[in-house]
Amino acid sequence: MKGFLWVFLLLQAIAFSYAEAQTNQHVLGGDTAEETNGESFRAEVAAQSGGQTVREPGADLVDSALVELRKLHQPFHHRARKQHGVVGTLLHFALKALPTLRLSAPAPESASKNPLSGKLLHATTLLEDSARQNNSDALYILAEMNFYGNFSHPKDFPAAFDYYHQLALLNGNSSALYMVGMMYSTGIGGAVERDQARALLYYTFAANRGHTRAEMTVAHRHHAGIGTPKSCEMAVKYYKRAADKAIAWYRSGPPGGRTWIAESYRIADETGGAYGEGASVASAGDNAVKAHPNSDAYASIEDIIEYLDLMSQKGDFKASFNLGRIYYEGQRGLNKNVVLARKYFFDVTQKYWRKNRPIDNPKTGLDKTAGKAAGYIGRMYMRGEGVEQNFDRAKFWFERGAILKDPQSHHGFGLLYLNGYGVKADATQAIDSFKVAAAQDYASAQVQLGYLYLDHGSNEDLEIANHYFELAARWANIEAYYHVAEVSNSGIGRDRSCSGAVSYYKNVAERAEPLVSSWAEANLAYEAGDTELALLEYLGAAEQGYEKAQNNVAHILDSDRSRLPIPQLLSHRGPTSRLLQDPTLSLIFWTRSSRQGNIDALVKMGDYYLSGIGADADVDKAVQCYTGASEYHQSAQALYNLGWMHEHGIGLDQDYHLAKRYYDASRDTNEEAYLPVAISLLKLRAKSAWNTLTHGRINSIQDDPTPKKEWSLTDWVNNFLQDDAPDYDDGYDDGYEDERMPGGDPMEFEDGAMESVVILGLAAALVFLVMYRQQRQQQAARRQEEEARRQQQQRGGAHGGAAVGNQQQAQPQQQDGGFLPQPGDANFGQWGAGGVGH
Ligand SMILES: *[C@@H]1O[C@H](CO)[C@@H](O)[C@H](O)[C@H]1NC(C)=O
Ligand SMILES: *[C@@H]1O[C@H](CO)[C@@H](O)[C@H](O)[C@H]1NC(C)=O
Ligand SMILES: *[C@@H]1O[C@H](CO)[C@@H](O)[C@H](O)[C@H]1NC(C)=O
Repeated sequence: MKGFLWVFLLLQAIAFSYAEAQTNQHVLGGDTAEETNGESFRAEVAAQSGGQTVREPGADLVDSALVELRKLHQPFHHRARKQHGVVGTLLHFALKALPTLRLSAPAPESASKNPLSGKLLHATTLLEDSARQNNSDALYILAEMNFYGNFSHPKDFPAAFDYYHQLALLNGNSSALYMVGMMYSTGIGGAVERDQARALLYYTFAANRGHTRAEMTVAHRHHAGIGTPKSCEMAVKYYKRAADKAIAWYRSGPPGGRTWIAESYRIADETGGAYGEGASVASAGDNAVKAHPNSDAYASIEDIIEYLDLMSQKGDFKASFNLGRIYYEGQRGLNKNVVLARKYFFDVTQKYWRKNRPIDNPKTGLDKTAGKAAGYIGRMYMRGEGVEQNFDRAKFWFERGAILKDPQSHHGFGLLYLNGYGVKADATQAIDSFKVAAAQDYASAQVQLGYLYLDHGSNEDLEIANHYFELAARWANIEAYYHVAEVSNSGIGRDRSCSGAVSYYKNVAERAEPLVSSWAEANLAYEAGDTELALLEYLGAAEQGYEKAQNNVAHILDSDRSRLPIPQLLSHRGPTSRLLQDPTLSLIFWTRSSRQGNIDALVKMGDYYLSGIGADADVDKAVQCYTGASEYHQSAQALYNLGWMHEHGIGLDQDYHLAKRYYDASRDTNEEAYLPVAISLLKLRAKSAWNTLTHGRINSIQDDPTPKKEWSLTDWVNNFLQDDAPDYDDGYDDGYEDERMPGGDPMEFEDGAMESVVILGLAAALVFLVMYRQQRQQQAARRQEEEARRQQQQRGGAHGGAAVGNQQQAQPQQQDGGFLPQPGDANFGQWGAGGVGH
């Protein structure tokens, strides 16, 4: 019965999807499936409207409901993020260690079922009345209220689904189709069973009606092969549509293109990655050097600003300039402030120009910095940022900057002449200016030259154009990426490469965050402590194919605890609601994140399979994940887990020698893994020694003999506590395997005395670690200040962008990239995306 209904609804949806709405969406009734209803509906509408402005039935009810709702303020509480001191952290850890508290009770359902009252009740009643008359606005608002919980309406996912579904069938509203697809895809809130086939269907309907997020979602599904076979051609088709919009949006900005602050980031990276500082790939190995840009640098941006401001007041022009840039560009957590930026840039220029002419004997470097500041001021006049747009003033400042060889000024000059802003349009002059800037590797000028050569159209020009675009692509310039994608896709001037085109289109589309995604809202909700809302918002971005959002969704839903749990315990997690307890969804998104090259996510996947979280336990899959992750020799966690599996003979042959080698490799990958590895090694050695002593069948550690002393110590403690558990013989291991997979937590040592010793040791170690971390943080902060000072002294060009990258590794490093964060770091490209001059 249900299946039949579904087929019927589907047919209807198809009908709507293809009977495209040339007419006003609001007027659209059913075309085929419901001829009679559609007819009467239309007649009614026409009668009401007199054939002109169309009011749906029930529109008045919606209006009065909105009046009521506006009286309620949106409950967006900006709670400060909780900071835990050492004591709080220890207490938290102590509570966590208590086994009973680990089975934290689900949040009481009653809390979310509080009956509506007052204005909200009134408004809801009005909307429901209106919805009964098939009013699309009422349906939409009710759906959103039940889904996102707007106006503190309690979330009710089944109800939300029904409303979205009704609206989707009513007039093929693409937002509603998209939401229905999302609910099928994720099964969020238990409204419907997860069903990837239906999800793809609804997403595709929405995408074909031009819904941008749906386009990206469908593209991602074809690209990654989710619920459908992989198809590069399909992926390109849909990603191109989204990228086209992204580029159009970018160009619709003021001269020089739109700028924005990149909001996408991994929550886990704030605490050093999915496994905490040091254990995760995100903060180990190659990434360790720049392990702190997210956690510590982010925390100390205020400190840096304060420091720079102090230096600036003392007359340090480089500090002033850098402050200007920081305020001009903004970053996640720091809004742009063009007014302040202008003030700081003026500070610099006033030092160099007095009474309209350069001062005699400027300090070394002042001319260069003043040139750059002039370039920025010119840019602000040209774009009308913080000042009224004024091309004459812009030209004045660009001239000043150009004399001092500032590439941004030359570029700005080129733009003025190219478009005839305040001057007579002069292509030759423009090209000359762009060439000067391009010669200094200024990406935006290279792009402009690329377009100019492209316009000429001869084969030779085409090649020059491509060359310029490729130069600019090194700086992760969005237009250059788009062009490279177009060329790869069309195969004009080079071999066609579908996979190349897909990844460039994807990058372009994903970069236009404010246009295509809900990153900003999600981050806002997360920072305000509304994890549920954040999850729902991240979910959309995750479906769209943002690896970072996939990581965030998985991280928020992550119920598994780490193998190296100590650093994780330092971050606090509140009690979780029903919505946040969805290990299967967590596993799904760890998987998707790992498919996009995130090694930590791959290790997480292994954990889930090993412990049977979110899926049936499958040791072989776990081993596959760990082995896959360990191949990069970056994941201390993966190596550690493999060691653990060898030690216990779970999924792998029991082999103490190999276990030790994995443990050693884990420690070598990362110095912060030292403590847990040392503890594990101690235990391993003990077991191995016992094994050797009793001529066990397991391959013992061979190279260096077991230190006698350690074994005798535990032995002594064992005897002392008169524990008769035969801990370390082979029989034990057999029995052990029969138990449910313990998940390999190093906290879960064997029963008995050993445990007490280890727990004591761990407690001591924890105290040590907390202190150690604090010290490290202080050091890091100090280092950062030094770094800032150093950078400031050798500040070079004014390029805002550098290497892009979704993955954590191997960025083409470019010096001189920007102030914060460091070039080549994982977030750098994103940070640069909203940067200047692209
Ligand atoms: C609303 O739409 C549904 C299905 O599209 C239809 O069955 C119902 O009769 C409509 N109700 C009104 C009041 O028009
Ligand atoms: C879907 O319907 C709602 C309510 O009528 C409307 O606000 C929204 O713009 C519609 N979405 C699209 C893509 O037309
Ligand atoms: C409801 O809240 C979500 C998330 O904050 C927001 O995106 C959406 O626009 C809101 N909808 C309405 C109707 O206010």
